[in-house]
Amino acid sequence: MAKAKLRVGIAGYGFIGSIHARAVASNDNVTLVAIAEPDRSKTESVGRINTFASFENLLDKKRIDALIIALPTAQHLECAAGAASRGIPVLLEKPMATTLADAHKIRDAFLGKTPLMVGMSGHYHPEFVGAAQVIRNGDLGRILSVEEVFQFGSAAFPLQYLDRKNFGRGITLTNGIHGLDRLDTLFGIDQVLDAIIMQRNFSTGADDESELTVRLRNGLNAKLGYLWASSDLFNAHFRVIGTDASLEVLPFRCCTLRDSDGDHVIYRHSSSDFASAHLPGISAELSDFIELVRHEREPRVTLVQAIRAQELVESAYEKSGFEPHSYTDPS
Ligand SMILES: NC(=O)c1ccc[n+]([C@@H]2O[C@H](COP(=O)([O-])OP(=O)(O)OC[C@H]3O[C@@H](n4cnc5c(N)ncnc54)[C@H](O)[C@@H]3O)[C@@H](O)[C@H]2O)c1
Repeated sequence: MAKAKLRVGIAGYGFIGSIHARAVASNDNVTLVAIAEPDRSKTESVGRINTFASFENLLDKKRIDALIIALPTAQHLECAAGAASRGIPVLLEKPMATTLADAHKIRDAFLGKTPLMVGMSGHYHPEFVGAAQVIRNGDLGRILSVEEVFQFGSAAFPLQYLDRKNFGRGITLTNGIHGLDRLDTLFGIDQVLDAIIMQRNFSTGADDESELTVRLRNGLNAKLGYLWASSDLFNAHFRVIGTDASLEVLPFRCCTLRDSDGDHVIYRHSSSDFASAHLPGISAELSDFIELVRHEREPRVTLVQAIRAQELVESAYEKSGFEPHSYTDPS
């Protein structure tokens, strides 16, 4: 007999919450039964799914088998703790929390009781899955350099991330965590050697520019650069150069291996729209979460890795001594 579908709720129906809903809709093992979202304009088109004005209401009133938390980062702790106390398994968006201390509280609320998985989606996006495979196969030869750049302008990125009160800190936390996690998973990071973290382009108190240097376990220093700009811009790549070949990932676009025979496309997204290009990764992440809930199978991203990524971010902020020089409460 076919297993009953997991009844899933989503807390926060903004940019990534709505993509999670698309992933749920295309997965036969789950059904979306509830959404918590205070902004009614965002849930107008969801049809007959129960909607609640806050995650507290959803948790109090609706029976669900699992919860996807896609709330502003500052609300992750309260919502995750509420789910844990009710024994509800959670897929929690990254970063786990605005601080490492809060990430520890979330981990402790679930540990040994209820499944928790952190949506470090970089482990699931096909262009990065392909890149990881090439690196692990040793196809690049001896690694000579590793670099990640993620720069985008206000026309391309969701301005909500500048809201320090809701999303905490800034670009190093919100975007840098992906790169630090990636380099740690692929090569192992010994330590963050240097971090220049700045608030230059906006005035909300969030860091919007970040240059990190990390020492990898293979002895190389790798560079990571992040920028939120006020101009229109999208420039993002993850590049690894080896003695035999080089590899370039253009996030949400493609992954290409270059060797003496020419260019080999490892993966190319068919969609050029940014939100749709998230979908394959978010869908694969959801499948992993379902396996965790149903079969207690360890997910691709363990809790240890998610905490480690948060530790690396914390270490970068400590190294830089970054303090916001102005803070505007957007409310
Ligand atoms: N894995 C990824 O690649 C990825 C991509 C984007 C965002 N994220 C993460 O997802 C989280 C959300 O980011 P986003 O870009 O979707 O933000 P968003 O602002 O677009 O969405 C958050 C939503 O939560 C709603 N909300 C606020 N308070 C609420 C409450 N009490 N109850 C229910 N809903 C509430 C807001 O109205 C908003 O619609 C962040 O932690 C972010 O870092 C991850």
